[in-house]
Amino acid sequence: MNVRTLKKNFSHEEIAKLSEEILALKEEKNAVILAHYYQELEIQDVGDIVGDSLGLSQAARDVEDADFIVFAGVHFMAETAKILNPTKTVLIPNVNAGCPMASQCSPDIIQAAREKHGSDVPVVVYVNTTAETKAAADVTCTSSNAPIVVKNLGVKKVLFGPDRNLGLYVQKQLPDVEVIPVPEDGHCIVHKRFSVTAIEAIKEQYPDAVLIAHPECNEDVQDIADLVGSTSSLRRFGRETKAKVIIVATEKGLVDRLNKDNPEKKFILAKDTAICRNMKRINIENLKDSLLHEQHEIIIPKEINDKAEKAILRMFELT
Ligand code: 13P
Ligand code: SF4
Repeated sequence: MNVRTLKKNFSHEEIAKLSEEILALKEEKNAVILAHYYQELEIQDVGDIVGDSLGLSQAARDVEDADFIVFAGVHFMAETAKILNPTKTVLIPNVNAGCPMASQCSPDIIQAAREKHGSDVPVVVYVNTTAETKAAADVTCTSSNAPIVVKNLGVKKVLFGPDRNLGLYVQKQLPDVEVIPVPEDGHCIVHKRFSVTAIEAIKEQYPDAVLIAHPECNEDVQDIADLVGSTSSLRRFGRETKAKVIIVATEKGLVDRLNKDNPEKKFILAKDTAICRNMKRINIENLKDSLLHEQHEIIIPKEINDKAEKAILRMFELT
């Protein structure tokens, strides 16, 4: 199969067979599968741990007995797992599963921002960055801890990138800190698709519906949301809320998870095109192939690894 194939549909029978093979291979190879909430449900279902990017990086760090970590998520997530657990072999089923946002902030952009704003202004980067960019930063953050990381730096000004919307979310919570976006307009192409107009149209149909949104959504969408948070906190809210209809402004995989786990409620994807094609480059077949052929291994040069690790560990220290 061409590795660039975006989406392949599998029958129930194929999924059942491939899932069985994956479970057997997991035993045979002594592997663990970490899966992000944006993966297809059949992949989440064979995952040992399913979570948001923070939870999965903590899980990767804590893997002890396994020989392989297979990462069902995008490239930066698998890289983070490797950095935090370098003695394990970390595999990603499709090397083309990259996050476009991570390509928007190179180490050169960070260097230029440092030169412009002064080397004493700390650089905070979202984990949705390459290992090289993390290595050029002072500390990383995720969607679930960005405000606390910035707050605990205890400074008046930070350079923050690449996601401008996550930066605005931090800025709103910390009005005394100047949050400078680097680059000027970093964004997620999937979360940019949500609009207030489309959400209001759904609300006309379901007037009692509540709205939950990821902080990568535009500011106007965040402003009308009942909760803004990481995929894990949206999942928790979905489970605990008394609301019967919940509009969800994040990627479809989480909405599928919520509908499956909470059949008494209705979760509506706020825009039906909100599908991360990169996350979906991982499928149940290439996941099986990854285990079977022990491919594709994440390798990070030591110098980059050590610097990126420092930025990630600083995040853990600050939180
Ligand atoms: P979470 O950290 O909330 O899982 O988000 C990761 C991501 O890529 C969102 O688009
Ligand atoms: Fe990257 Fe957006 Fe996909 Fe998340 S949803 S992995 S930020 S492109």
